[in-house]
Amino acid sequence: MERVETCVRYIREKTGFEPHTALVLGSGLGGFADNVKIEAVVEYGEIEGFPVSTVSGHKGRFVLGYVGKEPVAVMQGRVHYYEGYPMRDVVLPIRVMARLGARRLILTNAAGGIHPDFAAGALMLLTDHISSFIPSPLLGPNEEAFGLRFPDMSEVYSRRLRTVAEEEAGKLGIPLKQGVYLQTTGPNYETPAEIRMFRTLGADAVGMSTACEAMTARHLGLEVCGISCITNLAAGISKAPLSHEEVKATADRVAEDFQALLRAMISRMTEL
Ligand code: HPA
Repeated sequence: MERVETCVRYIREKTGFEPHTALVLGSGLGGFADNVKIEAVVEYGEIEGFPVSTVSGHKGRFVLGYVGKEPVAVMQGRVHYYEGYPMRDVVLPIRVMARLGARRLILTNAAGGIHPDFAAGALMLLTDHISSFIPSPLLGPNEEAFGLRFPDMSEVYSRRLRTVAEEEAGKLGIPLKQGVYLQTTGPNYETPAEIRMFRTLGADAVGMSTACEAMTARHLGLEVCGISCITNLAAGISKAPLSHEEVKATADRVAEDFQALLRAMISRMTEL
């Protein structure tokens, strides 16, 4: 709590801007920040105690401003558990954005496709997630000011925001798949046997982020939406070895559609 407050105080010294929607941009999706009418930019590195990403393709800054009429806080780059930060640090930015005023959170990521109907370049709306392969970000003493000790997770990804995403994708003619996201710790990609297991468990896509952030946001009472860019078919489904280069190249290819969808969705947020 104290660390969150320190970060919030620092940002508040730079800007009084109050976001209503928070957005986390995943691998290769950082270009969305160009859609923001910028009010303030805060580099993660400036903020004392704030975790800084080390991954190529991930910048590290908050972009605060407007998308249409909606005041947003955009994370251009996130930190991952595999970078060695404790879960508490990985999810700290979510708590900071909530304290700045965000009531809704849109999470994006690059993910490997497990569902047999998915192709590289597909967009998938998260209907649910499996977080059982990572430590919960809520382990340890509960901070009552954040939320309940035993928070409900029966609708992590808001039905209402899913409907908005489906409607806007439909209007734009952008195909939008739906499915269950499974978070691993990374940093290695999975083995084919692990992917077969994840499929059996009900996962449609696999990645190294998002579920921990979504759980933290639900703990805080935020309304959450998640969208994956299926950048590759998961191990064993894909015949070729997986690489971060492929992940970035596919994300770049789909970026235009992904950004159009995010713009349209965020413009609808002012109604909510
Ligand atoms: N596995 C895990 N994380 C990923 C993948 C994958 O295949 N693609 C992009 N992020």
